[in-house]
Amino acid sequence: MCAQKASGSPDKTAARVAELKETLDRYNYRYHALDDPEVPDAEYDKLLRELRGLETQHPELLTADSLTQRVGAAPVAAFGAVKHRLAMLSLDNAFSDEDVRDFDRRIRERLAIEGPIRYSAEPKLDGLAINARYEHGVFVQGATRGDGETGEDITQNLKTIKALPLKLRTGKPPPVLEVRGEVFMPLAGFERFNEQAIARGEKSFVNPRNAAAGSLRQLDPRMTAARPLDLFIYALGIVEGAELPAEHSATLQALRQWGFKICQQSRVVESADGCLDYYREMGALRSSLPYQIDGVVYKVDDLELQRQLGFVSRAPRWAVAHKFPAEEALTTVRGIEFQVGRTGALTPVARLEPVFVGGVTVSNATLHNMDELTRKDVRVGDTVVIRRAGDVIPEVARVLPERRVAGASPVVLPSVCPVCGSPVVREAEQAVARCTGGRICAAQRKEEIKHFASRRALDIQGLGDKLIEQLVDKEWVRTPADLFTLESERLSTLDRMGEKSGQKLQAAIAAAKHTTLSRFLYALGIRDVGEATAHLLAQHFRAIEPLRLADEDEMQRVPDVGPVVAKNIVAYFRDPENAGIVDRLLADGIDWPAPAPPEAAAELAGKTFVLTGTLQTMTREAAEEAVLKLGGKVSGSVSKKTHYVVAGTEAGSKLKKAQDLGVTVLDEPAFLKLLKK
Ligand code: IVH
Repeated sequence: MCAQKASGSPDKTAARVAELKETLDRYNYRYHALDDPEVPDAEYDKLLRELRGLETQHPELLTADSLTQRVGAAPVAAFGAVKHRLAMLSLDNAFSDEDVRDFDRRIRERLAIEGPIRYSAEPKLDGLAINARYEHGVFVQGATRGDGETGEDITQNLKTIKALPLKLRTGKPPPVLEVRGEVFMPLAGFERFNEQAIARGEKSFVNPRNAAAGSLRQLDPRMTAARPLDLFIYALGIVEGAELPAEHSATLQALRQWGFKICQQSRVVESADGCLDYYREMGALRSSLPYQIDGVVYKVDDLELQRQLGFVSRAPRWAVAHKFPAEEALTTVRGIEFQVGRTGALTPVARLEPVFVGGVTVSNATLHNMDELTRKDVRVGDTVVIRRAGDVIPEVARVLPERRVAGASPVVLPSVCPVCGSPVVREAEQAVARCTGGRICAAQRKEEIKHFASRRALDIQGLGDKLIEQLVDKEWVRTPADLFTLESERLSTLDRMGEKSGQKLQAAIAAAKHTTLSRFLYALGIRDVGEATAHLLAQHFRAIEPLRLADEDEMQRVPDVGPVVAKNIVAYFRDPENAGIVDRLLADGIDWPAPAPPEAAAELAGKTFVLTGTLQTMTREAAEEAVLKLGGKVSGSVSKKTHYVVAGTEAGSKLKKAQDLGVTVLDEPAFLKLLKK
């Protein structure tokens, strides 16, 4: 049925409006509460337009709970005050395992319960708490937490958030139902919103929490409607005349039935151990969640026990927030230096006033490259936000321009290398600036040797960065080939070395001579030749000599090698100094077994694997090597492009992500079968 026909008779129009409302309500519920859309967005939009058209033609059919009423209320001069009929409390914090065990012990003592307590464990969302009131199933009032006693009336703004049902999905709504939850801005929306704000020359938000707060406190609801806000419900306020379950977790499920969006990461756990397991699991998942969380919350699940426990001052005794170590912190920039990498790339690094962030003390943070540095406009003396998420390298997230000291000038790219004085060049359109010194530059020499000796290359046991730096500074080693001339007597004179360790190191260097062709190719550090390309080269050429002699056309026959990579490889072997180094290495006795015959190879060509958890029959390295050997690739993170996730025991967030994305998951036997082991 379409709008034109419906407008024929008043009854039919009313019926169509009712039908549209019901259908749209259901679509909305499926989309938000169940996260399982029934129709494409375009279909939803089409019906919403039809409803809006009918309501404009027949204003008498317009009701406050219509989905068309989410947007468009007039701006207000100021927010009215809302007195909370039930105070909105805050939570006590726990920062350590011990704090959590104390919390659990206190509860058991107070209740005189010996057995384990069941808790509802939930992410602690980093947004803004709100209260939403429904009378006879219709949303009538929304308020911020304010001081816990009185908040601000943000009814019109809350209405614009699509995750908030305007009407409860139940035939028997209670006379009064208040729900409480967190309004937040999902990370993707936050980033998009900030990019657009910057493009328009407007102020960007410091973090998603501030963005959510700023958006919710707009006096013009149309502004709020334009912001990508979301809402999870995690508690009740005043309830009159409703029969609800006896547990918190079941109550949340009931609320979900009524149309509210509940965080799907919530789960019931048992005792302090269960809480701590959940904490670690969420900690691992944190960086892959689409929204920010700053910890987890444990709540006694049994509502009768909650009632018995009651409150102390402003917080319930039955709940606690277990916080993650802060991932962002403020500090000042003492200096900005440029580090020179293996291929000469200059990386700007901020030297910082040491600061504790993400569980460690950080005194250096990367600025990635000149473009990033310019975009963020970091200057010496600036107050900056440092971010360290998970085990990622700490970075300067942003500057606080209002705290900039007068006279601080922008950082310019040095024209010569800070280490060797050779000219620095930056090719047009390239973010990377490079020192042109090559092996003249001590920094590049050190990095070349570190790479050569690294675990995934020749894997020279015991030859760490500090030793390599000494060897290069003393000019005992200039190129990787020099490593094999080192005698143990000499090695034992290095800092923190003795006779025994000198002998051991020399033996380790000698042992590293027996390797594989692909490790050797990777170890050479040819620009753009990572482990996967090195494997493919080894498989294609099967020996070093034909590879050294190949021209660019021949190189491009190797899968995954395009013109640029081919050019780099050919240029490497044509360079007389490199050629001399390769000759010396081979003469020194570097060797490898003949690579596997090509038929067995390439079986997994182009397939990307992600390994997670612990395998019982092989180490992580051996598994990676086996995949590479058959032409596959190994990646650290799961995406839609991943072909297989190999899940060992105690697989965590990567497994979950694979399941969410529908990526094939292999257990260990299936993986071994694929490898034909
Ligand atoms: S329950 C009486 N659950 O944390 C208990 N709060 O520090 C009331 N928050 O104001 C809160 N996620 O803004 C609860 N899953 C969650 C939460 C959560 C975030 C916030 C909320 C509250 C603050 C308390």
